[in-house]
Amino acid sequence: MHEANPEITSSQVFRYLEIAAERVRAALPRFTYRMQNHSSINNIYPDADNDQWTSGFWPGQIWLAYVYTNDPVFKYAGLIQSENLLARIKAKVAVDHHDMGFLYTPSCTAAWAITGDEGAREAAILAADQMLTRFQEKGGFFQAWGPMGAPDNYRYIIDCLMNLPLLYWATKETGNPEYAEKANIHAATTLANSIRDDDSTHHTFYMNMETGEPVRGETCQGYDNNSSWARGQAWAVYGAAIAYRYTKDPKWIDVFNRVTAYFLKRLPEDLVPYWDLIFTSGDEPRDSSSGAIVACGLLEMSELVDKEESKALKSTARKLVAALTTGYAATGGTDGLLLHSTYSKKTPYNTCTPEGVDECVTWGDYFYLEALLRLHKPEWKPYW
Ligand code: GLY
Repeated sequence: MHEANPEITSSQVFRYLEIAAERVRAALPRFTYRMQNHSSINNIYPDADNDQWTSGFWPGQIWLAYVYTNDPVFKYAGLIQSENLLARIKAKVAVDHHDMGFLYTPSCTAAWAITGDEGAREAAILAADQMLTRFQEKGGFFQAWGPMGAPDNYRYIIDCLMNLPLLYWATKETGNPEYAEKANIHAATTLANSIRDDDSTHHTFYMNMETGEPVRGETCQGYDNNSSWARGQAWAVYGAAIAYRYTKDPKWIDVFNRVTAYFLKRLPEDLVPYWDLIFTSGDEPRDSSSGAIVACGLLEMSELVDKEESKALKSTARKLVAALTTGYAATGGTDGLLLHSTYSKKTPYNTCTPEGVDECVTWGDYFYLEALLRLHKPEWKPYW
């Protein structure tokens, strides 16, 4: 970590939260009934149907803006989006994948926690049920993509750690232990296979469909199979903190420390990661969203460790957020909050569809706002 990088001050947090909340408000006329696309085009979000894995993040921003401002205009829009998400899960529109947590935690479990809206609760429970249909007994994991049991997709991805809180929430709400049991199994499979010896992470990981044995890691969105995709590493940081909160397995503290140290040591001078951690300087695009995710992960873990450790984690998070507000926070000319993120950059060595390179991405905006809110209001309880 670069000692000279400044921490964000409380008055700067307040200033940037004000800007961010106003930007969410300004986007409401276009996006109360419609969703934002997963990524912007020239920093402007096209509107989209509610059929992407990212459709929970815009409602999530609306709820964070409501928590911050208490302005009923946000509650009104957030509840319309919850109805929209309830209709989606009832009709099973584009939900044949594992991302039920990304979709329903920041949106509907948030709406339920904040307002007690029964429709939001029902939507989140139906989403948790849908997630259970993705569980593979052989190997013990939630299959990320594709038809269940397809040999070329018999794998899970590191991102899925962020889908598990929906399942822990569903067990707490319904009393049915199955959700949490399967989340625990998936977490243990991730712990066993996804972290490399050098503390970087595999993006996707294949399991043997006959024996359930681990097979190999492979990237989809990273530079190549040996590199560490910045956002995968970021999901591992926040995911490890959350897994520790729910499982209390101390191995997750160790993993958190390892993957965090790797992420931090691969940051360039200004502390905003390149899209893959193989790059530490030069002209490659950044993925500012990974910086925001890691800041949230550090702040989450700071609630779970002793005072001294907590202080160090908060200090690092403040540096990461200061870095984002210096040159990456949008102040005008876009409906995003955070500039210079990367969804998927194609290389000769990966398998992704190229989209959203050096753009705003809806989860980048969400986690940037969550990080600011966590710093401003430490008593805020995450919905993850
Ligand atoms: N979970 C997909 C991504 O982070 O791009």
